[in-house]
Amino acid sequence: MNIKHLKYKNYRNLRSGVIIPNKGINIIYGNNAQGKTNLLEAFWLFTGGRSFRGAKDSDLILQGEKKSQLDLCFYSEEREQAAQIIIENGRRNAKLNGISQKSSAGLVGKFCAVIFSPEHISLVREGPSLRRNFIDSALCQIKPGYAALLSRYNRTLAQRNTLLKDIPHHSELIDTLEIWDEKLASYGENIVNFRIQYIENLSVLAKDIYGGICKNSEVLGLCYRKSAENLKEALKKSRRDDIYSGHTGFGPHRDDIDITINSMSARSFGSQGQKRSVVLALKLAEAEIIYRKTGERPVILLDDVMSELDSSRQDYLLNHLNECQVFITCCEPESLKLLKNGSLFEMDCGELLKK
Ligand SMILES: Nc1ncnc2c1ncn2[C@@H]1O[C@H](COP(=O)(O)OP(=O)(O)O)[C@@H](O)[C@H]1O
Ligand SMILES: [Mg+2]
Repeated sequence: MNIKHLKYKNYRNLRSGVIIPNKGINIIYGNNAQGKTNLLEAFWLFTGGRSFRGAKDSDLILQGEKKSQLDLCFYSEEREQAAQIIIENGRRNAKLNGISQKSSAGLVGKFCAVIFSPEHISLVREGPSLRRNFIDSALCQIKPGYAALLSRYNRTLAQRNTLLKDIPHHSELIDTLEIWDEKLASYGENIVNFRIQYIENLSVLAKDIYGGICKNSEVLGLCYRKSAENLKEALKKSRRDDIYSGHTGFGPHRDDIDITINSMSARSFGSQGQKRSVVLALKLAEAEIIYRKTGERPVILLDDVMSELDSSRQDYLLNHLNECQVFITCCEPESLKLLKNGSLFEMDCGELLKK
């Protein structure tokens, strides 16, 4: 899959223009606050997701204007396709090949991209919920039915938790716990099995990519960590604690992924550059899994990834992602000495100049 061109009008600080990238590496450089991330965000909207910065739709329109329009021409499924997003009156409308979609979620699965932004380093640095979200959103994209399973689990969990809080006031309710535990354990075991399988696949690919990034000087390890070996048993045993705390102490909502570099916790011991490399390896491995599932290579969006990476790690990004279309933003055109093949664009006050 690749982007042929993107026309933008009144998107953030990008007043109007077009970018015609090449099929391989595209570098967008410029000083801070010129609009580089805004451009990647505009591409990202076509995946049907929300702004990766968590912005409201109305924030996306150039200040002082009422309407923002993006027209994307991309190559996928062996043909050129056209997608359009118009943001107006607090709504986001999307068209695909001329056909209006009910919502921009109608674009999901049509245009695929993987985004790395500096904030994603929290995936390694922070608590387990971000790591669980990472696997869950990856699985939602490639496993039909997973999103529904997850929401059934979450609903059942919420119901069980409500019940736990009611039991101290209505002790007769304790008998109904059995039914919820059965349901929760069954959905939960299913989720855990999907996740373990995904991490096993991801792990093989991410290890390989990480080895490429650090020229095999370090070894990445990924391992799914269950909160309970047997969920049904654990729920039963922890009933008293759960009633006391009003929360369910075991289940996929308490699981984590252990990430190690040379067998040491990346979260506790990794340097900034190592953490960044880990997240990159995870994202690129995710892209590879999407490719194996769909036959299309997602577009890779790398925002500000160059700083904190040494030159051999930079070289990997600039010269070893040959099979994908890649967009890399950076401030310093110096690091680009390493670039062997690719297009250069300079972003200056929302104006894009081809170099
Ligand atoms: N809706 C908007 N209207 C006008 N300018 C905006 C809007 N949203 C963001 N900006 C401006 O975009 C600039 C930041 O762009 P960004 O793409 O994050 O910069 P960078 O080139 O550093 O990645 C800031 O100057 C910000 O004020
Ligand atoms: Mg930026």
